[in-house]
Parts: sequence; C-alpha cells; structure tokens
Amino acid sequence: MLQTPLTGKKILLGITGGIAAYKTPNLVRLLKKAGADVQVVCTPSALDLVAKNSLAVVSERPVLVDFFDASGKWNEHVQWGLWADLILLAPLTANSLAKLAYGICDNFLMATVLSARCEVWLAPAMDLDMFTHPTTLLNLKRVADLGYQIIEPETGSLASGLSGKGRLPEPETLAQIVETVFQSPTPEAPQPQGEVEAVTPETSFYRGKHVLVTAGATKEAIDPVRFISNHSSGKMGIAIAEALVQAGAIVHLVYGNVTTPLPDYCYLYPVESALDMLNQCLKLFPNMDAAWMVAAVADYRVENIAREKIKKSEDHLTLHLVKNPDILKTLGELKTPNQKIMGFALETENEEFHALEKLQKKNADAIVLNSLKNENVGFGKNTNEVTVFLHNGDKLPLPANSKTHIAQELLSLTSQCFQV
Ligand code: CTP
Repeated sequence: MLQTPLTGKKILLGITGGIAAYKTPNLVRLLKKAGADVQVVCTPSALDLVAKNSLAVVSERPVLVDFFDASGKWNEHVQWGLWADLILLAPLTANSLAKLAYGICDNFLMATVLSARCEVWLAPAMDLDMFTHPTTLLNLKRVADLGYQIIEPETGSLASGLSGKGRLPEPETLAQIVETVFQSPTPEAPQPQGEVEAVTPETSFYRGKHVLVTAGATKEAIDPVRFISNHSSGKMGIAIAEALVQAGAIVHLVYGNVTTPLPDYCYLYPVESALDMLNQCLKLFPNMDAAWMVAAVADYRVENIAREKIKKSEDHLTLHLVKNPDILKTLGELKTPNQKIMGFALETENEEFHALEKLQKKNADAIVLNSLKNENVGFGKNTNEVTVFLHNGDKLPLPANSKTHIAQELLSLTSQCFQV
C-alpha cells in the first residue's frame, strides 16, 4: 500500500450527538484508506444520529461507547487515551465542548480525552445561534487556551434551515487536516524530573511510542507470610523506564519488588508474582510498540501455596516448585512485525552462546548480557557493564558506567538498529 503520513497512525475519532455525525462513516473510510488505524468512540447521543454498525464495519473495530460493554468487560479509557496518536472530535456539540472546557467526564469519550497525551483536535459543529452564543465562544476560547486544536466550522445551510457558521467541514477536508498534522514535526514530549541526563537524538525511535518495561523481582508466595524472591533492585529497569520517558516514549512500567524510587511520568502497574506480571503484560502488550523485559522473574513458584502459616513442626520442609511461564518468550511469540522486544540475560558460563540462544528462542530483537566478570557492577549496584546482542547479528560491548548512562546507550543502540 502507498505510504502516507497516516500510515500506521492510531486515530481515535470521537463522535458526539450532532446531526453532522451522519458524515462520520465516510470520514472513517477516508482515514482508513490513507493507512490509519481508526478507533471510533461515540457518546450515547451520537448513536441517535449515526449507526454503530456502519462505524464498526468501516473502522473494522467495535465502536466504544460505555465504560463496560454488553458482556461486562471493562473498556479502559486510560488505555484508549494513551493508544491514540491523535484524537479528533467530530462533530463536537456545544454540550461536549462545555464538558471539555471544564473537564467533565460523565461519559466514556470525555474520560478518554482527559486521559490522552496526544494532540486533540476539535471540529465543533452546531446551529448558528448556538455557535455564536457567548457561552460557546467563551468555551471555545477556554479549550484553545488549554491546548486543544480547533477546526473552524464552515459557513452554509444548517440543519435548522438557517444559514451561517456552524457546519462540520466535509470528511475530505477533515481527513486532509489530520494528514497535515502528521506532516509537521511531533510536539515536544513532557520532560521528566530527576537525575535523567539529556537524551541524544539517536533515541528517536522511541519518541511517541508506547513501551512496556518490566522491572524488579517477583515474589512467589510460600504461605501468607513468606515468599521466594531474589536480590534484584529494579534499578536497571527503572533506569530504562526513565530514559524512555526522556526519549519521549509513553512508558508502562510493570514492577515487582524494587528498592529504588519509581520514576515520574510513567504508568505504574505493581505486581507480586510471575503469574501476576505475565497477566499484566499480556493485557498491555497488544497496544505496545516495544517492550523492555528487565524484571528478574522467579523461574519457579510453589505449586501449592499454604493457606495458613506453615508451622515449624518438622526438622525438614520440602517445597514442591513448578516452572513459571517465561514472560519474554510468551510476548516474543505474540509479537507482530511492528513490535520490538528486548530482554536481559544473566549467565555464569558460555555467556555468549546462551545469550544468543535466548535471542533466538525468545524471538527477541535484542538481548543484553549482564557481565558477571566485574564484581563492582550489576545486581543491586548503581553501575552496570553489558554486551548487547542485536537481532541483526551485531555484538556491542558497553563498558562499566552508571545504569542511567547504560540505559541511554541501550536505547540509542536499539533505536539506530530499528530505524535502519
Ligand atoms: N524472563 C521472563 N520470564 C521468566 C524468566 C525470565 O520474562 N520467567 C526474562 C527476563 O526478564 C530477562 C530474560 O527473560 O529479560 C532472561 O532472564 P534470565 O534469568 O537470564 O534467563 P532465563 O530465561 O530465566 O533462563 P535461565 O535462568 O535458565 O538462564
């Protein structure tokens, strides 16, 4: 298919209850034709004016309306807000405009918009006197000041029979405007606070991307008060999450036991066991562009967790352990051609052989081999020394440095590799 600025872009089209909603199936069709992935979200009253099934067919996705669908499944508005590369609200009624102006989220669409980090474009459309009402004009000014982009309505005949300003531009015009947005440079991403050093332009692969990061140690319960775990501090994973934020990524950090402060500007998902971590990752992964699997996942868990505290009655206690699922390998098997996945390896013998084996067996795009030769770096320390094995066959050693610096180098190396 011909590449356009919209190829692969995720557009969330929000439709509110204006008569011009009848134009939206055609708008969806045009955006799809230009290569965009379109998710339609309607307010309940929009469905009085446009058929849900038509929108689902042309967008090739179910239309989202409520926080819960008919089967009781929760539609996570935050996930959808983060999913979008751009949100377009067309048509935007005076009522929904007023809600946006004051952050009222009494429906799924408004809550999604409030959760978004991408640009939000508004195409207000309403009848003449509504558009020129001082309240509407004040609200328009307010949303413009808040950073929403406004597409001026056109002048012409209106549903009331009046003629004037208030018409929704034709779908071709709206599709053209959306396309133009992606021709201009991406707006600045929020800058994190803290000790993160300045990012290099080489990390640009990650800019605007949704990236899953796992960090820390999982805890495998033995009984209600005891668990099996390991010494992982989570420092390397958190350093990668911080470097990703700095590079402009939207980071989803799934973390077990960590002994270091959590980063700013990340979406945080605390978990306990390897199975919890797997479930959380499986939920997030379909909407991710990349994943950095840095967690020290316990390879085994106790088969039958005791319901009560185990008393020390016997001289010996045998725990029966079963293998945990390999999260990296599971995601590697689910990975689509557009997704990248990176993992770590800790080896004590035949290091390179095992690292390359993990790269291949787990279908990873890169494996970062922790060095055990230098005892001043690694587990629990603030420094690390690694060798990166890339899927293109490159082997790149990174000498000992702070985990913050190593994280930035890792993003830079993978970014350069993925952009070729
Ligand atoms: N990993 C994972 N799920 C597991 C075990 C490991 O996702 N159940 C990921 C880690 O986050 C890391 C990579 O796999 O990115 C390699 O972890 P490592 O402990 O070195 O290797 P294992 O795959 O567990 O193999 P082994 O312990 O036999 O070397």
